[in-house]
Amino acid sequence: MFVLSSSFARVLALAGMSLAFLLPASAADASAPLRTHASAKGKFIGAALATGPLSNETSYRNIAATEFSQVTAENAMKWDATEPNQGQFNFSGADAIVNFATQNNQQVHGHTLVWHNQTPNWVQGLGASAMRTAMQNHISQVVGRYANNATVVSWDVVNEIFDDNGNWRTSFWYNTLGQSFVADAFRAARAADPNARLCINDYNVEGINSKSTAMYNLVSNLRRDGVPVDCVGFQGHLAIQYGFPNDLQQNLQRFADLGVQVRITELDIRMQMPRNATKDATQATYYRNVVNACLAVTACAGVTIWGFTDKHSWVPDTFQGEGAALIYDENYQAKPAYNAVHDALAGGTTTDPTPPTTPGTPAASNVTSNSAALTWAASTDSGGSGLAGYNVYREQGATDTLLGQSTTNSTTLTGLSPNTQYQVYVRARDGAGNLSANSPLATFSTLSGPGGGACSATGTVQTQWSTGYVVQPVTVTNTGTSAITGWTVTFTLPAGHTLAGSWNADVTVSGQTVTAKNAGYNGSLAPNASTTFGFQVSRPNGNTQTPSGYTCA
Ligand code: XIL
Repeated sequence: MFVLSSSFARVLALAGMSLAFLLPASAADASAPLRTHASAKGKFIGAALATGPLSNETSYRNIAATEFSQVTAENAMKWDATEPNQGQFNFSGADAIVNFATQNNQQVHGHTLVWHNQTPNWVQGLGASAMRTAMQNHISQVVGRYANNATVVSWDVVNEIFDDNGNWRTSFWYNTLGQSFVADAFRAARAADPNARLCINDYNVEGINSKSTAMYNLVSNLRRDGVPVDCVGFQGHLAIQYGFPNDLQQNLQRFADLGVQVRITELDIRMQMPRNATKDATQATYYRNVVNACLAVTACAGVTIWGFTDKHSWVPDTFQGEGAALIYDENYQAKPAYNAVHDALAGGTTTDPTPPTTPGTPAASNVTSNSAALTWAASTDSGGSGLAGYNVYREQGATDTLLGQSTTNSTTLTGLSPNTQYQVYVRARDGAGNLSANSPLATFSTLSGPGGGACSATGTVQTQWSTGYVVQPVTVTNTGTSAITGWTVTFTLPAGHTLAGSWNADVTVSGQTVTAKNAGYNGSLAPNASTTFGFQVSRPNGNTQTPSGYTCA
């Protein structure tokens, strides 16, 4: 009897499982907002909100209200907004965000109490004792204001305290107070609101690397010492051209194993402009991977996107030539990234835990200066969701780049750099997003040659005086169809002019001919991407000439 009912239940479970995969989502499901699906999974889905569009754009308000269950103030709770002068608090922007969230049944994550940016000069100039007191008072006032407000549930207590190597950032906080400001800040926050969840937050800590390991060790030590750190925030400012941190889930899990909650706090996934369908698809995959990583880690509370529309995003102002990092375009139309987040959150509860088999070694053929064809032995998938396709990666140590995707067991890689050795491998993916193990590596070298690596250079005279001038920027643009790994700009100085200095290029002068080659860090340009350099020239008093043109090769 026992055997019979147990096998019957298994038959039902299996039937339910395959039905869940075969049936398209119902119309209601498909149109349900992100927050509905997130709640069903016990997670939040959030967005950072800006007070300007929140007060004057209906589309912004409507999407913010319906799609998200959690809100972070993009700027309104930072120190420069809340305490611009010592002891003078202004909560107008913060309250606007909190009230909006309350009306829409959303949670607010307070961001951020102690940071080296967006903190007024009066704080930065204080001596140690006064700075510690000011920090404790700020935390007590800001956290205290919302301590009895059920909408505000958590805080970023300290933000970005490490540099990229995992050393302590030598901010004014650290330089004045040493490491102790971190424990003091957490203790002050706990005192101000014993029920709020208190987080440490940083960027470039999504994968396992020296910075995330420094954070891991600090959190472990603080908790050992009884400092109330409840949560770790992984900002998640990603870019499709730098590859996906494939160990995100593993990294979240190692923090979770310390006993803290984890969360993705500032997700955006930028690309080099202009946008196109291929980049959108890669971006969608990255969004899906982040959501899936959070879904797979029980202690991950949710994912907050840093904004939601490309109309209002910090990315184009911060990363030159990059943008389109969010899930709606600038006209509030959902992008493939929205569907990816939606589908990941809506994914069946009967998930497919089995990745596809490992693909065969890729074989390269038809290698040119900027492209190569690859074929490999196909994978199979037995987990139920079915083989969805393949990702093709370049092996580069810690941060492998995704070179392309295909739905069949072959692809043509484009946009490769000339005269470059590539080591590539393939991973199969299934309908549930599981990735197979890496195939063995294939090695090939692209040919040298023209390869479409054309470039252009234009110079702007920034300032001039009677005996000299500064040309800044000289903008170097890859006008070709494939990536370039170096550039050389030549120009002629008018007679009597001499070069006085230069920056962001390696410059040599022969007679009046100046040759500027890329520096080590700005030679690689994707198609349409630009970089800049500059130089200063001395000229005879009264002469008003400047170089007449720039040639790029
Ligand atoms: C950014 C905001 O998006 C911008 O509007 C502002 O000008 C600068 O700060 N890490 C953080 C966020 O913790 O507070 C930052 O937000 C983005 C990087």
